[in-house]
Amino acid sequence: MNFNELYNNKLALVEDALKRLMEQHGDCPPTLLKAMNYSLFAGGKRIRPVLLLAAHELVGGNIEESMALACGLEMIHTYSLIHDDLPAMDDDDLRRGMPTNHKVFGEGMAILAGDGLLNLAYEVFLENAMKYPHKLERHVRAAFAIARAAGIHGMIGGQVADLEQEGKEVKPDVLFYIHTHKTGALIEAAVRAGAILEPIGEDVEDAIAKYGQKLGLAFQIVDDILDVTGDAASMGKNPNRDQAHQKATFPALYGLKESQRMAQELIDQAVSHLDCFGKDAGFLKELARYVLKRQK
Ligand code: IPE
Ligand code: IPE
Ligand code: MG
Ligand code: MG
Ligand code: MG
Repeated sequence: MNFNELYNNKLALVEDALKRLMEQHGDCPPTLLKAMNYSLFAGGKRIRPVLLLAAHELVGGNIEESMALACGLEMIHTYSLIHDDLPAMDDDDLRRGMPTNHKVFGEGMAILAGDGLLNLAYEVFLENAMKYPHKLERHVRAAFAIARAAGIHGMIGGQVADLEQEGKEVKPDVLFYIHTHKTGALIEAAVRAGAILEPIGEDVEDAIAKYGQKLGLAFQIVDDILDVTGDAASMGKNPNRDQAHQKATFPALYGLKESQRMAQELIDQAVSHLDCFGKDAGFLKELARYVLKRQK
């Protein structure tokens, strides 16, 4: 199977598992369920859950066991997009090729749909951990890695700095803080969580996490680049929004060409952290290269 087939296979498994989970947990106010499902099934790339499953596979795991973690991670990511698009934050109208959640359901419901997905993720993590009493500690550690990366020391911290830097001249260290936290942390946690589930030793976990760290930063640099060079039809979100908000971005500070070079260098570094795995890391290496070429 080639890379695209392997990616799409994992994506289809995530899609099915998410559907099952939302059905199992669908006993809530109908509007809320509709609003959560609207954004969750709007056609995201699912790169974080795919990364988690692939990292678990790389360390010899069976991905059935990591699917709940992968799905919860995607719920957290989707919540972050719903809130990120709100008028009080990036004020965006288009997401995943559809009107943003608050445009369809109103701001109050969009906030609650985000809250709902965030909380449901932890319900799913805990419910899943209890299914593996003999590996309880590993499942708790994996969920903890995601929780920490999504929280005030990770994504939320990064989003705060992103907001506070609007309209200001950003310094390189602050820009790196924003990107490694608002986006990098969750991508690093995705692969770390997959790796944690099997007894692999610290060195191996660290190598996989470093891959995720470099990839995560590159992912947000490419997101910044696409905001300048991309179009709504392929991205499913409107371009030129960062400049409109005077956001702290890599193209704004370093220019497009240098940003592209930096992203390329980070991807090369990400790939090299997996050299110790030999051929088994082929998929994750290709995934890193895909991040550089992506148009959406
Ligand atoms: C968008 O994430 C927000 C960022 C962190 C850059 P993705 O580019 O993964 O968006 P989806 O999930 O595919 O919609
Ligand atoms: C998003 O960064 C980071 C999140 C945690 C959601 P952006 O604000 O650049 O993401 P897009 O461009 O709206 O997807
Ligand atoms: Mg934002
Ligand atoms: Mg945004
Ligand atoms: Mg962006």
